[in-house]
Amino acid sequence: MGDRGQIEEIKSKLDIISVIGPYVPTLKRSGRNYFGLCPFHKEKTPSFSVNQELGIYKCFGCGEGGDVIKFIEKIDGIDFPKALEVAAKRAGVKLNKKISPEQIENAKIKENILKANSLASEFFQYILLKHPQGEIGREYAKKRKLTKEVIERFNIGLAPGGFENLKKFLIKKGFKPYDLVKWGLLVEKNGRIYDKFRSRLTFPVIDHQGDVVGFSCRAILQDEKGPKYLNSPETLVYQKSRTLFGLFQAKEAIRKSGFAILVEGNIDLLSSHKAGVENIVAPLGTALTIDQINLLKRYTDTVYFALDTDNAGQKALLKDLDLIDQMGMNAFVLDIGKFKDVDDLIVGGENWQEVVGKPVDIVLYFLKSLKTKYDLAQPIEKNKYIRQILEIISKIHNPLLINDYLNKLASEVNIDIKILFSELNNIKDYLQKHKLSELPSDHKISIEIKEARQKENLLFKYLLALLLNNQEYTSNIKYSEIEDLMPDELFKKVLKSTLSGRLIDKMDEEELKLYSDCILMPIDSFEDQHQFDHEINVIITRLRKEKINSEIEKIKGGQNLDLDDVEINRLTVLIKQLSSLK
Ligand code: GTP
Ligand code: MN
Repeated sequence: MGDRGQIEEIKSKLDIISVIGPYVPTLKRSGRNYFGLCPFHKEKTPSFSVNQELGIYKCFGCGEGGDVIKFIEKIDGIDFPKALEVAAKRAGVKLNKKISPEQIENAKIKENILKANSLASEFFQYILLKHPQGEIGREYAKKRKLTKEVIERFNIGLAPGGFENLKKFLIKKGFKPYDLVKWGLLVEKNGRIYDKFRSRLTFPVIDHQGDVVGFSCRAILQDEKGPKYLNSPETLVYQKSRTLFGLFQAKEAIRKSGFAILVEGNIDLLSSHKAGVENIVAPLGTALTIDQINLLKRYTDTVYFALDTDNAGQKALLKDLDLIDQMGMNAFVLDIGKFKDVDDLIVGGENWQEVVGKPVDIVLYFLKSLKTKYDLAQPIEKNKYIRQILEIISKIHNPLLINDYLNKLASEVNIDIKILFSELNNIKDYLQKHKLSELPSDHKISIEIKEARQKENLLFKYLLALLLNNQEYTSNIKYSEIEDLMPDELFKKVLKSTLSGRLIDKMDEEELKLYSDCILMPIDSFEDQHQFDHEINVIITRLRKEKINSEIEKIKGGQNLDLDDVEINRLTVLIKQLSSLK
């Protein structure tokens, strides 16, 4: 949908500032770009930059960037075709929908899957609520204290025992057995096709539009040999990493309350609704994903974790927190004390609403909860406890908070805060190194080199940014000199584009990325030619020094002192050059 020409037309008719403006109230013009607080992550100083002429944006904090259509995609959490439609409408461009036969076919299949799922859901619910065969389900629901209201709100049903109940029903409705196998409602084994879900409570998984995209089904029989939960496979309409159980029923409550509660189990979620807390979701038994967090971000920027209190749950909590933090969301923990999960707490007669009303700071939560896992009288155990807490603190950036937490830890374990502080830095270093060593082998260079390279590239980028953003001052720039200093072909190409004013639609993807990174970079503005020349000279001198230094290092080759005459001569020249630059 939407050919290239049309996309360009839409982009040229849309003013990116008027699209982004409402989402970034702090957006202000400064030089050639606009700057404001990034709408995609939390920050206190503006690193979100927009260039009106080129219709592009970039955040130097979180890295998010692109054109106006990408912005709509990200901010509304919709896919490209949808974003294009929104953009076309705003721009007053009528999309000529050239839909391929394949797309038509896919749309038909999607519609059919949704229809089969919706019929299956009705079938299961009828069995649970009305049919004699539903008695075991009704008994189980009663035992788990699932009320009629909850059953109806979540369309809970029962897949009866027996192998051909749903199969017969859906075939009567005109579906083909092989399609139903592909869509995960039936299974095929040894040439037989039969119902996938049997003797299970069925929880329909509903997407944000209210369509049943799959099922999550809990065993109810004591002697069930299969897994506790049996879930639908992924299909054209169902991607697990992009779905949150309960979100459809929770979204209004999330908006109103300003936060979302995250639990592990479907049953926890249902119990919570019963207890009057509806702003709650569960990630269908898998670890939380970035897509799921983005989904939540449409409604709130705050998550309260109420995961199971067993080891697996606490481990998951630490992992999820990392992700949540990276995504710029606020996180708190709900302390469910001695109970194993939220359902256990609610069934145990505790006041869940009260617990929800007292979100706990994450670090303080772990300070308390991990303490019970270690015998702090034993030095080695105590050390483990301290390390775990420090690892959690190492993810925090605010120095005031860090100080506060370290103080609390210090009094908890009776160790001087200075020692804790230095240990914290060790852990940070270690984690940093650990991250690097996970890179593919040809990237396994030492951190020092890597950091140096990054800094170098930043300097190159800064130089390009200076040239790109101040073209009125660039007439006396000696480009060949600067070209020599550039680290690789890509930089050289972008430099040439800068020089020739080449159109950005002629650039390839890599070039365009570097180009927009540079043009969007926040830089000071210059009062006059002299000021600009001075800055350029400072940068060029630094780059020259770095170039010479790296050649010197190469010749020295580590600690090798056996240099031949040619090498010694070259070194002398280089060192002379270096001193002339000072
Ligand atoms: P109860 O333990 O009966 O209270 O149910 P629960 O919904 O709380 O389940 P549990 O805490 O064991 O697991 C949490 C979530 O993980 C469930 O809601 C499921 O989404 C998922 N899950 C649990 N067991 C399985 C399993 O055997 N297979 C799959 N695929 N998912 C599971
Ligand atoms: Mn559970």
